[in-house]
Amino acid sequence: MNAGTPTLTVERVIELGAEDLQALCDTTDAAILDGNGFGWLHPPPRGRLQAFYRGMLIIPERELFVGRLDGVIVASAQLWRPTRNNEAQAFAGTLTSHWVAPWARGHGLARMLLQAVEERAQALGLSHLKLDVRETQEAAIQLYEANGYERWGTLPVYARVGAALVAGYFYVKPLPRKGKPRAG
Ligand SMILES: CC(C)(COP(=O)(O)OP(=O)(O)OC[C@H]1O[C@@H](n2cnc3c(N)ncnc32)[C@H](O)[C@@H]1OP(=O)(O)O)[C@@H](O)C(=O)NCCC(=O)NCCS
Repeated sequence: MNAGTPTLTVERVIELGAEDLQALCDTTDAAILDGNGFGWLHPPPRGRLQAFYRGMLIIPERELFVGRLDGVIVASAQLWRPTRNNEAQAFAGTLTSHWVAPWARGHGLARMLLQAVEERAQALGLSHLKLDVRETQEAAIQLYEANGYERWGTLPVYARVGAALVAGYFYVKPLPRKGKPRAG
């Protein structure tokens, strides 16, 4: 146990053991109850959430990243690439479902996850990352704009929150080219 500064790590996961899956689901529930989006408005039944993550891990175009605080999963992000038939947009990935559990915020995990996703996107040869957020997600907006994401559009009817529809902002960031372009 670390009584002082917490140990923070991020990684891309390709499989989830029972303990990690439980922590990821607990964190997901907490983030949903906190009211910050990524689709769900209410925590789904645990079995459905587990199936969602297990299914995600076998989709080639989706990658899961987790953040740990003292070894326990408390944060997550996903990198989605266009499906293989979409050659015209194969250059761009989408960062989505990026959150940190309310009790683990403010330590830098969100920035670490963002960096990990960007580095992976670069390693995959992507030249751009896209993302979208509700207009109410102020911390996330601050984070993305401070890290080079340019807002290119607003959708006035983006997400349902209670009885209301809230607007959403759309962002894109060109990624610096890493190393030499692939031959062929
Ligand atoms: C956005 C979120 C991921 C930030 O997590 P975090 O671990 O607290 O973030 P970090 O500690 O890595 O901070 C990184 C930056 O985020 C921004 N930020 C974090 N908390 C903030 C706050 N309360 N107000 C304004 N900006 C904030 C700042 O730019 C900060 O950089 P700084 O410390 O140099 O000012 C977290 O608040 C969250 O999970 N929000 C709900 C989900 C969400 O909005 N996801 C995004 C769209 S899917």
